[in-house]
Amino acid sequence: MSEESPPSPSSETLRDLSGLDPETYYDEYGHEEWDRLEATLGGHLEFEGTTDYLRRYLPDATDESNPPRVLDAGGGAGRYSVWLAERGYEVTLADLSQRQCTIAREKAREHDVAASVTVERADIRQLPFDRDRFDAVCCTGGPLSHLTEETDRSQALEELRRVARADSPVFVSVMGRLAVLQNLVRSVGYAPGVPALATDGTYDAAFAREHLDHLEEPGFTACHFFRAPELEAVLEAAGFRVEALAGLEGFAANVGERHDLEDLDADVVDSVTEAVREHRTDPAVVDLSNHILAVARV
Ligand SMILES: C[S@@+](CC[C@H](N)C(=O)[O-])C[C@H]1O[C@@H](n2cnc3c(N)ncnc32)[C@H](O)[C@@H]1O
Repeated sequence: MSEESPPSPSSETLRDLSGLDPETYYDEYGHEEWDRLEATLGGHLEFEGTTDYLRRYLPDATDESNPPRVLDAGGGAGRYSVWLAERGYEVTLADLSQRQCTIAREKAREHDVAASVTVERADIRQLPFDRDRFDAVCCTGGPLSHLTEETDRSQALEELRRVARADSPVFVSVMGRLAVLQNLVRSVGYAPGVPALATDGTYDAAFAREHLDHLEEPGFTACHFFRAPELEAVLEAAGFRVEALAGLEGFAANVGERHDLEDLDADVVDSVTEAVREHRTDPAVVDLSNHILAVARV
């Protein structure tokens, strides 16, 4: 969310709420979705943390005749699909946004992995795949957060569980509530929403109408922001065993996104990345992060 000027009595109400719909938002977001993981220190830490856990928990892919099948659910522009395909996995990317699906196909071709990446437009609440189809499932960068109804989030988790083979790793990362609250407190225009968001974590059209009526448009798309224990609890309620929880941006939460990666010295990036990595599983750090990753098994 960007910083906004203070509420003004002369502000026009009510602004365009179409961007609150995640499909519209990500269609319009376009290539920024591909770029975001290498544009800032925060994006770099999110990608580095996610791939660190993928390396640790994914099944071995050295047998080229029998590549493990991975679902990249809500895979966006395909950063992780390309990364996975380059390491020998056979990937299916499913995303709600037609535009993101088109970009993901382009990126798979550009990186010479199109033969290993299938892209389908699909909703994580109703996946068009058979039970037990995948040897690993990724749902990273917040697709689950974009479901603002609790019943939809449960349905999506049920779908991720259904399509994952028994004992396969499922990687789910969501947007963290404490990190967004820190941003809201800092941005005067959003401050009226702080108490409600602190209580239930849901940023949607009803929230925007009630608390952000003085702004021209909401700064982000509809989202449920999680606390770390909440993520663990919903995964367990859906029948998963949670094996790891990590705060991807760690103690650089909210700071990292303000630094363009290209402006930083490579040694500084490496040393911050290493320090963040070391403290990523500290429960306080996990809960404070912009993105909270859980590794679970069916
Ligand atoms: C921030 S992007 C994350 C992309 C990628 N997984 C990553 O980790 O960088 C969130 C993606 O979730 C997708 N998405 C949101 N709601 C979805 C739903 N109900 N079903 C499938 N995809 C969804 C969006 O279209 C968007 O591409």
